[in-house]
Amino acid sequence: QVSPLIDSFGRFHSYLRISLTEKCNLRCQYCMPEEGVPLSPKSHLLTTDEIIYISKLFIDQGVRKIRLTGGEPTIRKDLVEIIARLKEIPLLENISITTNGLVLTRNLVSYQRAGLDSLNISLDTLQPKKYETITRRKGFERVVAGIDLAIQLGYKPKINCVAMKNFNEDEICDFVEWTKDRNVDIRFIEYMPFSGNRWETEKLLSFRDMLNLIQQKYPTFEALENKPNDTSKAFRVPGYEGQVGFITSMTEHFCGSCNRLRITADGNLKVCLFGNKEVSLRDAIRNGCSEDDLIALIGASVLRKKKQHAGMLNLKSMENRPMILIGG
Ligand code: GTP
Ligand code: 5AD
Ligand code: SF4
Repeated sequence: QVSPLIDSFGRFHSYLRISLTEKCNLRCQYCMPEEGVPLSPKSHLLTTDEIIYISKLFIDQGVRKIRLTGGEPTIRKDLVEIIARLKEIPLLENISITTNGLVLTRNLVSYQRAGLDSLNISLDTLQPKKYETITRRKGFERVVAGIDLAIQLGYKPKINCVAMKNFNEDEICDFVEWTKDRNVDIRFIEYMPFSGNRWETEKLLSFRDMLNLIQQKYPTFEALENKPNDTSKAFRVPGYEGQVGFITSMTEHFCGSCNRLRITADGNLKVCLFGNKEVSLRDAIRNGCSEDDLIALIGASVLRKKKQHAGMLNLKSMENRPMILIGG
């Protein structure tokens, strides 16, 4: 094997997503059941040093982008320290977070000072009441203020909007209108099934459905170029400041160009968003495994990665973690 990060289909994985916590201050319906999920004891979660050690190991093997996820990554008290320590690693080109945006007005300046390059913020509705329904918590105004602060600080945030029939179907064009004078990238994500999220085919609002809705109101809506490993298909309304994208995991999967690996908060390497073949790097490290043996363990796991998982394959019945324990 040339690089342990190349799989048996020739995909090179240069992008690592690290989940920092299993906790969240929201309870989004598509992400977890109302009662929450059983949490790992704190001693099972990766420490700050372990996160940096694993990051360096992957960067040595070719990773160039790291995204910090959760749960909600801003809940981790050492988030600023993690960003700052990652920033010191010369080969790493991009450090991002995916957040629900609740604490950005308070903390984004310190994340930026520590070296945060970009951020993706979840927002599934533009209506405060509906926000409470979907997240089972309050916070709409704070998230919007967080998004506006991100723009002020020079970021172009990506806004993740999970599209669901009978929930936000009627707001698709409102979101598009949001890009008129806000420099954001609104990404509509096809609703995906995970353990405990009560996914049904009938709730799936497909890329084609959304495109039809938008084109009726915006006939000039146009497709833009995409980068090779983008999850989203980019579009815009000409003359509008921001852009719009579609993450079509269900109807047009993008597994062929997948460059992502994941580390769960409890230290498992997960080579695909779906599928449950995981290997514990935490245990290997705590058992004193040598760096070479760790790299071999990672390489073997990457070689087991399947060609395709996303799409309408039997996902609903597939054994997997709930989304809150994966991090997207
Ligand atoms: P960038 O790093 O900016 O490209 O963002 P991203 O889209 O990779 O990450 P984000 O955390 O914002 O996730 C947005 C949506 O894309 C979530 O619903 C994720 O579950 C989904 N997503 C991210 N990576 C993958 C992937 O490798 N496969 C699939 N099927 N979906 C993914
Ligand atoms: N289907 C699609 N996207 C989801 N996300 C969370 N759960 C789901 C789901 N069931 C998205 C959230 C978050 C990102 C990490 O994953 O919008 O922004
Ligand atoms: Fe990659 Fe798996 Fe997502 Fe396909 S489903 S793009 S293989 S993480």
